[in-house]
Amino acid sequence: MIDRRQLFLGAATASAVVASTLKWQSTEAAEKQMAEVQSHVSGLKGKHPRGVVGRMARLGSLHTEGLYDFSVGFRVVAAQAARTSAGAAFERLLVREGIDPASQITSEQARQLIDKDPEITIASKTWLSSQRIMWKAILDHHHANEDFYLSQMEAADNVGPGKLELVPTMDIPEECCHEIHIQPGGYVGDAFAGHTYHHGTNSFYQGTRGKNDQDEIHKMAANALPIPADGKVRRILDYGCGVGQFTVALKERFPDAEVWGVDIGGPMVRYSHMRANDLNVGANFAQRLAQDTKFPDGYFDIVASYIAHHEMPAQTTLKVIDEANRLTRRGGVYYPLDFNTAGAPTLTPQGMFALWQDHRWNGEIWRLEFSEMDFTGEIGKRGFQHMKDTPPVLRGFGARHFVRV
Ligand SMILES: C[S@@+](CC[C@H](N)C(=O)[O-])C[C@H]1O[C@@H](n2cnc3c(N)ncnc32)[C@H](O)[C@@H]1O
Repeated sequence: MIDRRQLFLGAATASAVVASTLKWQSTEAAEKQMAEVQSHVSGLKGKHPRGVVGRMARLGSLHTEGLYDFSVGFRVVAAQAARTSAGAAFERLLVREGIDPASQITSEQARQLIDKDPEITIASKTWLSSQRIMWKAILDHHHANEDFYLSQMEAADNVGPGKLELVPTMDIPEECCHEIHIQPGGYVGDAFAGHTYHHGTNSFYQGTRGKNDQDEIHKMAANALPIPADGKVRRILDYGCGVGQFTVALKERFPDAEVWGVDIGGPMVRYSHMRANDLNVGANFAQRLAQDTKFPDGYFDIVASYIAHHEMPAQTTLKVIDEANRLTRRGGVYYPLDFNTAGAPTLTPQGMFALWQDHRWNGEIWRLEFSEMDFTGEIGKRGFQHMKDTPPVLRGFGARHFVRV
């Protein structure tokens, strides 16, 4: 039997051949080149077994892709309809309970109300189940072929143009270990968290927010980012970078800048690095905490993030803002993009219901407390001047623009 290390040694040569030729291309071109590589390397399927579509590798087997497509289709049609009917059931519940739809309720009141109507729970579970099928399909495939996919990442770890820094002994705070989006293992506990997150969130965008398989939304966000008044953009940080889609888009917009993506998830930055290199984009990635990035004071001209804050406790968000203040040079730009927040609970019953659903049924453990923060106000109190915000790239996402004073 061949062990993983032997496979890796074999794969390194093959990956080098493939990496030099197989950049992220059309499926047809990729499959042609894959066939050429396969004819030289018996038993090894090549870098992306079923090719790539532009910037997105296809899932590695027809079976997995079938399950994934089914779960996405189900989410877009049936589970979305179930969610709508849950909203209607909640509306009826408000009437039954005599609650004014224009009033404000707390998350605890929303929870108690939802508990009174099984239709809401059943509908929400339909949504949850389709998501479970999706995660299972992706993870089962990667675990069943772990030698291949681990070898692929190992082969890329020390290859440029970008750098990768992993800290396998890092003490991961418990608050970062939740299975957000009910993704098994979360961002830190599964070697394929990056592969899984990339495909999984791609399905979320299709379901509710439009197309992002070519990083369209991350590119929009990067292109909307305001630059410092003196025009100097030498170094940029993207914290909570996930699989590096925003980081890559920033490096593509500012090719001469030194661009870093940091994330607590080792598997996330590892995948980010491999993917950025496949795209021939020289962004750097490191496994670090956003509240303790280790970069020198005033190192960055721009500090940015994309939907990281609603996935950390409110207290951590405050620490991260302080760290951003330490890292951003005077006159530099701070641009943390995330959901709008209302400040203290000011949501209508339907608004709170939607938030509660995301919290309870999508594993968004920190979302409620983030939504209750005055995020913009807290940044203003911590050494940044609030400028005119850029238009939101997505409905409900605040693109906040600050300058370090
Ligand atoms: C919703 S994901 C966003 C990822 C990425 N920015 C994107 O556009 O998809 C949130 C990310 O923040 C990371 N994260 C959460 N808390 C963190 C912390 N304290 N320090 C660094 N990364 C953190 C998670 O590991 C996860 O990858």
